[in-house]
Amino acid sequence: MRLIFLGPPGAGKGTQAQILQERFGTKQISTGDILRENRSKGTELGKTAEKFMLSGALVPDEVIIKMIEAELDKFRGGFIMDGFPRTVAQAEAFDAMLQSKNLNLDGVVLFEADRPTLFTRLTARWTNPRTGKTYNSITNPPRVAGIDDEDGGALVQREDDKPETVNKRLDVYERQTAPLIDYYRATGKLVEVNALAPVSAVTEEIVAKTGAKAAS
Ligand code: AP5
Repeated sequence: MRLIFLGPPGAGKGTQAQILQERFGTKQISTGDILRENRSKGTELGKTAEKFMLSGALVPDEVIIKMIEAELDKFRGGFIMDGFPRTVAQAEAFDAMLQSKNLNLDGVVLFEADRPTLFTRLTARWTNPRTGKTYNSITNPPRVAGIDDEDGGALVQREDDKPETVNKRLDVYERQTAPLIDYYRATGKLVEVNALAPVSAVTEEIVAKTGAKAAS
């Protein structure tokens, strides 16, 4: 399966991509996670991305496109793009990339949720920096506050989940990423899911609407 997960910050793209990766083995490619890993390692890419990410802005298209080109070759068999493309320029570059490698996209999943819910989800999110697993202190708390249920290590809050940065990220989504809804609707590959439903219900809606299954 080759899928794109499209939707605003906090809609649950990462949560669902991790579940489908575990269930079907389809690789999650999260541009946000790759950038955060580069920042923690102090690479040139990480240094370039840092100021954009901390302010809630998008990292420049040319940086992201180059990064995806390098990732795509590793996962030609299947992937879930989580957080890419995010601008029309990225989508056009991605189309060209897929075409040059003779790869088809199976679907684009649009996660629909209202802004007050997204704001609450993000400002209450806690993440395991070692595995990427997320919790939510309101909707999905860990058994012990601040501690991961699985590895027992500390959970952290993302720097860009501060209320003022969350508002900026939601504005950036509406201005720069939401135009992709029409872009992909025109291809006939867009399906919409209700991202306000419980996590397991969202998963089942994605599976039903995309026909997601394990690679044979
Ligand atoms: P990125 O890391 O991609 O962040 P994002 O798109 O803003 O998405 P989030 O990770 O915040 O949300 P999500 O939809 O994955 O929600 P989650 O599953 O965690 O990007 C960060 C930054 O990197 C960008 O601002 C930009 O600077 C840069 N960047 C990345 N990609 C880029 C690109 N292509 N171009 C340019 N710049 C780029 O869930 C959120 C919370 O809700 C969690 O607590 C979770 O437990 C909870 N939750 C999830 N689903 C449910 C549910 N159904 N019910 C109740 N709670 C739920």
